[in-house]
Amino acid sequence: MRHLDIILLQQFYSETDTEVIAQLVAHLYQGDILLAVQEALTWLQGTWGFAVVHQLHPDQIVVASKDSPVTVGIDLLGGQAFIASDRKAFGQQALTVVRLQNNDCALVKATGITLWREGKLHTPQAVDWQGIPTDDLGHKAGYAHFMWKEIMDQPQSIMQGLEGRFEACARHVLLSELETLKEQLLGVKRLVFLGCGSSYHAGQIGAALCEEMLQLPAQAEVASEFRYRTPLIEGETLAICISQSGETRDVIAACQEAQRLGALVVALCNVNHSTLEHLACATVSVRAGAEVSVCATKSFTSQVVTIVLLLLHLATVKGIRSARMDQLMQGLQGLTLAVETVLAQAPAVAACAGEARRFSRFFFLGRCYMAMACAEAALKLREVGYADVYALPSGEMKHGAIALVDSSTLVIGFCGHAHVRKQMYSNLMEVQARGASVVLCSPEDEEMRSELWWGRFVFPANDDVLDPIMYVIFGQMFAYHYALQSGFLIDCPRNLAKSVTVE
Ligand code: G6P
Repeated sequence: MRHLDIILLQQFYSETDTEVIAQLVAHLYQGDILLAVQEALTWLQGTWGFAVVHQLHPDQIVVASKDSPVTVGIDLLGGQAFIASDRKAFGQQALTVVRLQNNDCALVKATGITLWREGKLHTPQAVDWQGIPTDDLGHKAGYAHFMWKEIMDQPQSIMQGLEGRFEACARHVLLSELETLKEQLLGVKRLVFLGCGSSYHAGQIGAALCEEMLQLPAQAEVASEFRYRTPLIEGETLAICISQSGETRDVIAACQEAQRLGALVVALCNVNHSTLEHLACATVSVRAGAEVSVCATKSFTSQVVTIVLLLLHLATVKGIRSARMDQLMQGLQGLTLAVETVLAQAPAVAACAGEARRFSRFFFLGRCYMAMACAEAALKLREVGYADVYALPSGEMKHGAIALVDSSTLVIGFCGHAHVRKQMYSNLMEVQARGASVVLCSPEDEEMRSELWWGRFVFPANDDVLDPIMYVIFGQMFAYHYALQSGFLIDCPRNLAKSVTVE
């Protein structure tokens, strides 16, 4: 057992764990900042991604990383260096970008980077960032907020996700990223989808589709729960780890746990070269383009599309062919048009969201895939609108939540599925009878005349599993306008982070 002869005479000025590292480095410093950090690293436990500066060495920054992203960008011509957790922070600068790996330590100067790996000098490898379209980095393209730009990007981002992977005429799906896993995929008997936040909601849609279309048992699980319970992972389980950033701590830990238990792990990431990508057997790129707003929008809809493609690919590998698959492919073909129909209703959604500010409680109700869309739409309104908002499968309403319903409640009903529309209408009538105002979102239905409802939106019916995309986009626009008209911060809501790299 080593002993560190430290008597901390200095006072701690904050309560963050990072200060412990600063105090330790200061204690070990004897004139060389790099040596002090390298020694400090041998004492640390846990995860870190930090940069150290010292007033006596203004031309040096020492960086270190373990299970936390640290990216260094060097502009050799301009004599500048940048450090960030995400390459997106460098914007459109043409830089040589180096991503630190676990336990790396590096000395960064304006003239370059010196990297140590496992105690030895290592030649840094620049990352090829071609995956990120430069015009998509850090620009609002004339919009007031990234969130609105990213909502409006969706016809394009969805199209990008389909390009070269899906041939509508040939009814053929091919994900080249999974080509090398053919043998393993053939044997898959069960699927588990892991993610947090919006990515988890996308996984829920994936699990339901898997059971519906492939008749393979599947479940979606919140990554932070999966990592700490004792999940039953039998051989031949495919774990699909979904993460926009690929850096969410809990998803990374869940991925490692799934691997330890013998699952085949495939990642679904939007950001290329992420930690999750390095861990997984293969990564399917979500191709939504850079998403800057903290609130996930286009990455969610692209995740759903990518999951659908992945399951169609799995079916093809397994030699499964069904009418349902054909139907779904037809739905993919009509998807961007359907999305545009929803986006075109932005002015009406903005007016409705403005009016809705007089309510103090919100419910999103739906059934089947629409219940999952409700969870995602509610998350948006909570994140940027700070609203008291619940999402429930509508049949659950009467088991408790209906007690909360009164005239200060706005209920938004997602009635997308024909086979449960009658039940949905009856649930909406129930809350209306108890004083709630109701916004009905559904395809055209003559019986459900507009005057029956406080608000009414009509969306086309395309495919049961893809339709949540339209209803979620309505929810994104509603949340944006609710927050905008309330004067809230949009792109960086309070207390939230784009990627949560700590537990
Ligand atoms: C944070 C973000 C959410 C996101 C979640 C998961 O909470 O604010 O928008 O859904 O992390 O992020 P990931 O990058 O793993 O998809």
